[in-house]
Amino acid sequence: MKLNFAHRARLVLAFTIIGAASLTTQNVHAQSPLFQPLYEVLTHPRCMNCHTITDFPRQGDERRRHAQLVVRGADNHGAPTLQCSACHQDENVIDGAVPGAPHWGLAPLSMGWEGLNARELCLVLKDTSKNGNRSLQDLFLHMSEDELVLWGWTPGGNRTTPPLSQPDFVKALQAWVSAGGPC
Ligand code: HEC
Ligand code: HEC
Repeated sequence: MKLNFAHRARLVLAFTIIGAASLTTQNVHAQSPLFQPLYEVLTHPRCMNCHTITDFPRQGDERRRHAQLVVRGADNHGAPTLQCSACHQDENVIDGAVPGAPHWGLAPLSMGWEGLNARELCLVLKDTSKNGNRSLQDLFLHMSEDELVLWGWTPGGNRTTPPLSQPDFVKALQAWVSAGGPC
């Protein structure tokens, strides 16, 4: 079939509309670019090893199960007979062999992030029924000042740190919070 100009113009128009429609559909499901850098930090092993959905913490970049049969316990601070604080001090000790920071313990199960994609994690993070009733501003303060969060950038030993520097993480947080926390 030989297409004349009008036919071709109509075809181009049709494809443009279909293209635009599928782009719009994609946008509905796409995650916010402002959350992406935060996602990369939150899913780093230094954060995720405590934000588990399991009954135990994890260790190392390979995120193996915590040694010594350490368990979550009823209060997220271990079994009554083997609390996190039996080993974890207020700071890293023995040249970083035992990491430490004040109030060391697992994040509650409602704050477990394993297996979530960026959009899901963003929604859970903002869900006040799961995040300790924190507003966006509270989340900003927690993630820029909390000692367990800050430990992620001074983890001791030869542990790796999250992909953004701590100041860059705070900047990215600020941008996300200022934009209303888009997911
Ligand atoms: C040693 C364990 C530990 C590490 C490491 C840790 N967290 Fe947490 N995190 C906790 C605990 C415990 C809470 C609950 C504290 C509370 O509600 O007062 C928490 C709560 C949070 C919350 C608020 C609750 C929520 O789900 O919105 C955020 C945000 C958070 N952590 C971010 C981080 C980030 C980012 C890192 C890594 C840079 C990190 N955490 C590393 C233990 C940890
Ligand atoms: C018997 C001592 C002991 C107890 C009890 C203990 N830990 Fe640990 N933990 C360690 C040691 C030692 C390491 C370092 C292991 C390594 O780097 O290979 C460690 C590492 C970790 C790490 C990994 C840090 C990282 O990102 O690689 C997390 C998270 C952790 N512990 C959480 C906990 C939590 C939460 C509890 C209580 C529920 C707890 N630990 C109880 C000794 C202990």
